[in-house]
This record gives sequence, structure tokens and C-alpha cells, in this order.
Amino acid sequence: MSRQTVLELLKSRGEDFLSGEEIAQRLGLSRAAVWKAVDALRKEGYVIEARTSQGYRLTGSPDVLTEKEIRSFLGPTALVGKNLVCLESVDSTNTYLKKQALTGIPDGTAVTADCQTGGRGRMDRVFQNPKGKLVALSVLLRPEVPLERLTCVTAQTAVALCGAVEEVCGVRPQIKWTNDLVIDRKKLCGILTEMALEGETGRLQYLVMGIGVNVHQTPEDFGPELAEIATSLDMVLGRHISRPALAAAEIRALDRLYADICRGDTQRYVDAYRRDCVTLGKTVQLLSADGRRETAQALDIDDEFGLIVRLADGTVRTVRTGEVSVRGMYGYVD
Ligand code: BTN
Repeated sequence: MSRQTVLELLKSRGEDFLSGEEIAQRLGLSRAAVWKAVDALRKEGYVIEARTSQGYRLTGSPDVLTEKEIRSFLGPTALVGKNLVCLESVDSTNTYLKKQALTGIPDGTAVTADCQTGGRGRMDRVFQNPKGKLVALSVLLRPEVPLERLTCVTAQTAVALCGAVEEVCGVRPQIKWTNDLVIDRKKLCGILTEMALEGETGRLQYLVMGIGVNVHQTPEDFGPELAEIATSLDMVLGRHISRPALAAAEIRALDRLYADICRGDTQRYVDAYRRDCVTLGKTVQLLSADGRRETAQALDIDDEFGLIVRLADGTVRTVRTGEVSVRGMYGYVD
């Protein structure tokens, strides 16, 4: 525990040195306990510089999705992430949480994994999650709100995540309708929301929100086909992004979203979605489940995040998530 508090204190100091005495005083530890904590942190991969008469400062952290590292960026949250489970490897963080949900784990539990061996995407697609490359995060929510309020939760999550990526990277992604985050016209992040309802009453048992953000992949990691439509933060920004810092920002954003959903305070997510949506103004193809394709002009987003389109014959129609998927005319977005 003293390791965690020493780490948090050093992080809060940024580039400044902190003397061993001040650390000991502020945390109520002995000098020997401070030294032991610093030594243990170094063994875990933290780079801690020590200077005579100045003390210690943190100059490097391991890029790991451990509870300690994520918490050192997290700060207090109302609910989401209070219970945080960090796994090295799992089939799928969504599947894991769905099983745990039935055992009564707390509302707001967040699960991360460094590697998923059976990551799942929408429509039963495989979601690739090689070790150390992504932030894979799932969150369990049990909001006590009317079910209608949850139909837009994935689109609202997309907006919340744009904010989290912007906070950590300084660049705001856009949203390809309905809920893929894109940068430079390529997919950066996918979201898979799964819910369980009680058969008799229709009451929500739980909702699991799963998010995968590409962070450290290179084009070679994606392979030639996927590299055409997918990108990573490292590829876009040309610099290293801290996965635990991003995981913490995502958890904070979901914590705010959860409170907003419970209060029914979600109009600003629609407003932000309209600003962030890269699909608007584009000519798109609407792909129906039965394989039909129609060309349309994307005009606007309605208050339930439906896409308002004008078809080739001039009719204006609103399409909803699940009903059709949208592609650009030539590529993933355009
Ligand atoms: C999609 O783009 O189709 C959605 C991808 C969702 C991937 C995330 S990664 C964390 C969570 N666990 C999974 O198995 N899937 C989601």
C-alpha cells in the first residue's frame, strides 16, 4: 500500500524532486519504509531518479494495465472503477464481466486486460487484442432508470470516449455513425454494449459496456486488410501514449456518463455527437442485414442518435442503429 501512495505522491509532483523526509512526513511513513517503497517500485519498472540533498523524482513509468498504474492516474470516482480488476489475459473482458455480474459484483466494476484471446466485436465479429497493444476495458452498470433511457447508451459512450482520448492525447477523434471512433478516417476504437433483461418483468439485470482502443499497433500488427481501415494512437500521433493514463481517463468519462444517465442529463451528448460525427454531410452506403445497399446523403442526427438521410429518390428517412450499417462510398468513412 505504501508503494501506491509513494507512487501517487511522486506522480503529483511531476518533474520536481521530493525529499525522502517530506514523503515520509506527508504519508506518515518511516524513512526506511519510503526507501523500501522506492526500491520495490524500481523493481516493477518505474524509473525513479535520486539526487543527494534533493530527494526523488519519477522520470518513467511502465506502460502496464495494472491496478496500481491505472489508479495512479485515476483520482476519485463516484462509482465506475471503485472496483477495478486488471487481468493479464482473458478470453474477453465482456464475457468475464457478464459471468461475474451474476455473482453480484458491485455496480460500476471495471475490468481491463492486457490481452484478450477471444475478444468480441459487434455482430459476432472477432476483435483482435494482441498483448500490450490496446486498452481493452469493460464496465458493469446497473442503472435504475427506464429502459428507454438506455437505448442510446453506446452512442453516448462514443462521445464520452472522444473526450477521454482528447484529454490524454490532445486530439479529438470523430465518430463514424453509429459508434466507432475514427481518426484520419480510420477506426481507432470499437464499442460493444451487452445487456441482460429479466424475462418476466423486462427489468434490466445488467449492462456491460466493452471498449477497445488501439494504442500501440503498427500497420504490420493490423495486417494489410485491416490496415486499410484501422489505425492506432501511436500511428496517428507519432509518439507514445500511456495506456494506463488512457484507461483512467476512460473510466472517469464513463463515471460522469453514468451519473448523467441516472439524472437524465444527456442532451449535451447529442449536441456533442452532432459536432463529432464524421458521417454528416457525406454520401454513404446503407447496408441492410439482408445484403441490400442504398446510396444516401447523411443530413443530421436526431435526438435519439438516429441518422437522418436523403435517399436517391429524394425521400428523407431516419435510420437506427441495428437496422443498417453505414460505409463511405469508397472506403470506411468517405
Ligand atoms: C466493434 O468494433 O465491433 C466493437 C469492439 C469492442 C471490443 C471491446 S474490447 C473490450 C471488450 N471485450 C470484448 O470482447 N469486446 C469489447
